[in-house]
Amino acid sequence: MCGIVGYIGEREASSILLNGLKHLEYRGYDSAGVAVINSELTVKKKAGKVSGLDILLQTDPVIGKVGIGHTRWATHGAPTDLNAHPHTDSDNNIALIHNGIIENYAALKKKLAADGCSFKSETDTEVLVVLIRAFYDEFGNMAKAFRYALKQVVGAYGIAMVSTFDPDRLFVARNGSPLAIGIGDREFIVASDASAIVQHTRQVVYLDDGEMAVIERDRYVTKRIDDDTPVDKEVEEVVFDLAEIEKGGYNHFMLKEIFEQPEAIRNAMRGRLDLEASTVRLGGLMNVIDRLRDAKRLIIIACGTSFHAGLVGEYLIEGLAGIPVEVEYASEFRYRDPIITKEDIVIAISQSGETIDTLAALREARNRGAMTLGIVNVVSSSIARQTDAGVYSHAGPEIGVASTKAFTSQLMVLALMAVKLARMKRMSASEGRTILKALHELPEKVEYTLSRHEQVKEISRAYAEVPNFLYLGRGYNYPVALEGALKLKEISYIHAEGYPAAEMKHGPIALIDKNMPVVFIAPQDAVYDKVISNIEEVRARNGRVIAIANEGNRQIEPLAEHVIYVPETLPFLSPIINVLPLQLLSYYVAVDRGCNVDQPRNLAKSVTVE
Ligand code: G6P
Repeated sequence: MCGIVGYIGEREASSILLNGLKHLEYRGYDSAGVAVINSELTVKKKAGKVSGLDILLQTDPVIGKVGIGHTRWATHGAPTDLNAHPHTDSDNNIALIHNGIIENYAALKKKLAADGCSFKSETDTEVLVVLIRAFYDEFGNMAKAFRYALKQVVGAYGIAMVSTFDPDRLFVARNGSPLAIGIGDREFIVASDASAIVQHTRQVVYLDDGEMAVIERDRYVTKRIDDDTPVDKEVEEVVFDLAEIEKGGYNHFMLKEIFEQPEAIRNAMRGRLDLEASTVRLGGLMNVIDRLRDAKRLIIIACGTSFHAGLVGEYLIEGLAGIPVEVEYASEFRYRDPIITKEDIVIAISQSGETIDTLAALREARNRGAMTLGIVNVVSSSIARQTDAGVYSHAGPEIGVASTKAFTSQLMVLALMAVKLARMKRMSASEGRTILKALHELPEKVEYTLSRHEQVKEISRAYAEVPNFLYLGRGYNYPVALEGALKLKEISYIHAEGYPAAEMKHGPIALIDKNMPVVFIAPQDAVYDKVISNIEEVRARNGRVIAIANEGNRQIEPLAEHVIYVPETLPFLSPIINVLPLQLLSYYVAVDRGCNVDQPRNLAKSVTVE
């Protein structure tokens, strides 16, 4: 949520900043701006996408080798030119960019206004830059002013700042919103995530909460904001390639990532199938696996698509391993005074590893004595570093705002965990062998399902203009219905609801008429006959049925306007296959409607504000 980039070195800053912003645009795209220091401070900013800023900088270039850039997801103040970052002090000597929310900005603003300070924008960020200036006037030292101002701030932030008062330094800080420092050759590139850094260097230092850094061309110092003590930071190596964050010939990141799923789930499984012992090996859980086996209760917390993965996880772990599982939205969990004991284990699922609600819920669980685990995609992200143990999902960078390959990789990790625990508790070796075989065959089945995308594309044409959609599934595929509906609404803006198929009778059935498309996820599993009855109920009210069914199931054809066939697998693995046509359907419908698939309105990939 909001992308931050900064540069100090020997090269012209503006093109590096702009390029970084293009890679960070998935974090927010309401407005964009840069500030560059030469002998004076030049700020260029504009409402709209980074491409608008690009045009502005082409017609009116800025020169300088120290600078900051920002792409915004609006919290306080509408997405206007004025509210765009960077924000400056009254006489344009300090420029600051911010990701997060300054919760006590109103109180700070009131105090500063009483002291005679004036403000140009409606943002919380401007209050901080004005506060820093007030401290600078008092101390005459920029690093000290920066630190003292941050000590007054309540809230979450990732921040970068430059100033003509100290023109050869870049100042950054973190409290809750990610910030990485890329170490180049006599240059540094800072950013909210490594995607804006990797083309310059792979050596990265990640700030932790409550830390700041003062960066010069050939050195940097990291320290604690509260007491100014220096902190030694480990330099980490970024593992992904630039190619992974490029579109690679696809029209959209989302489509590329949909088609990367066979590889993504292969990667999630790689090295984790123990054929000899007919079980699963999860190195990241090695030290905690006995506690996990003996847990009285697992609580899964997550947001968005990751929450849907968590729901499948509940069915999986309870169904296979017999351990009670609860799944909760992280944002609800953290504020409802949850009852947690030392015997509980809390598992956070997150693609980015940075979602603020998930992170905060995790801290809450830890404070109450629970052991915490993470299922995270982004290596070295905040959640990955703040949990006691965990499993990476290894989907590779996911850039499209609508999550696809991260979801199926999360499902794969949850399935592996469930099998591991089940084998330790009550599953026979021969059952284990059957499952390992099914897991092994899964990537090819995913590949095959995706190879039939043209059929889904064809079907999507019939639905591009409808205002509503309903998605229904049962058992393992109820969360898939929720995910199908979420995918459609987030990128096509068609209102869609997911429901447990039988629960339809208690409400959504009132919506069904000849205009209502209803997607049924209907594999031939234990609840198949029940789902067929639900299809009949929709047909009796003239609803338009689209069925996801197993290959060879001819019985369903007369019941549906369209049938999308998918290969059969074990029921608990079927969500990994059944969600694929739903991802494709939402993609093609959104494209038909002319929507910006990778940057849907109002959304952001990584939600780092509450
Ligand atoms: C945002 C994204 C979703 C994602 C959710 C949770 O809403 O747009 O795609 O599922 O955040 O993110 P996380 O990174 O924690 O999985």
